[in-house]
Amino acid sequence: MIQIAPSILAADFAHLGDAIRLTESAGADIIHVDVMDGHFVPNITMGPPVVASIRKVTTLPLDVHLMIEEPDAYIQPFVDAGADWISVHVETCRHLDRTLESIRSLGAKPGVVLNPGTSLNTLDEALRLVDHVLIMTVNPGFGGQRFLPYTLEKVQRLRNVIQHKGLSARIEVDGGVTLENVADLVKSGASILVVGSQIFRDPDPAAVVRQLKAVGERSAASLPGLI
Ligand code: DX5
Ligand code: ZN
Repeated sequence: MIQIAPSILAADFAHLGDAIRLTESAGADIIHVDVMDGHFVPNITMGPPVVASIRKVTTLPLDVHLMIEEPDAYIQPFVDAGADWISVHVETCRHLDRTLESIRSLGAKPGVVLNPGTSLNTLDEALRLVDHVLIMTVNPGFGGQRFLPYTLEKVQRLRNVIQHKGLSARIEVDGGVTLENVADLVKSGASILVVGSQIFRDPDPAAVVRQLKAVGERSAASLPGLI
């Protein structure tokens, strides 16, 4: 199953509800919410009150990507606000097992995120604890950056590790994902595609969502059993 997750970071914050409804009606599967604290990444975005407002305008799962130091303190507030998935960066977690277990015990789906320069080896033990692994395909902090091509091979290696270990974690990719690289990403093993600027900087965001989904599903169908 290929899922499209529009990143609302690229939407007009004065009209978030409209942006979400538009992509939902075009077939988006998940809403990706980028939370930045100005410390772990050099940008500040939104917190639990924004998630609580978004929660009222969509029934889609809310995928909260925490780019913050000390994420443990914010898990409960985001769950209370309506987050369905919570992903933490391995670079920010001193006790990764405890953090992931706490996300699950509070009723959200735990995910772990790796920066482009962080090795897959850091996941050796934690892979069994997550529903999804988010591979950053740009350095986190800003939308609209260029995809780093070497991350494709990282996605392939992760898919092989997941298969080899007989686990069910899904692979999500985030950063610089466009209609041009979606096919390669899906063929490499990604099944959750976070897309910001390509959707929201287009005059017809709904059409882009439909195209991304069509290309993603066609690529997956060309390689049965891959995902
Ligand atoms: C970057 C964020 C991404 C970003 C993706 O730190 O995690 O979710 O919004 O945006 P695009 O698709 O524009 O790279
Ligand atoms: Zn993100």
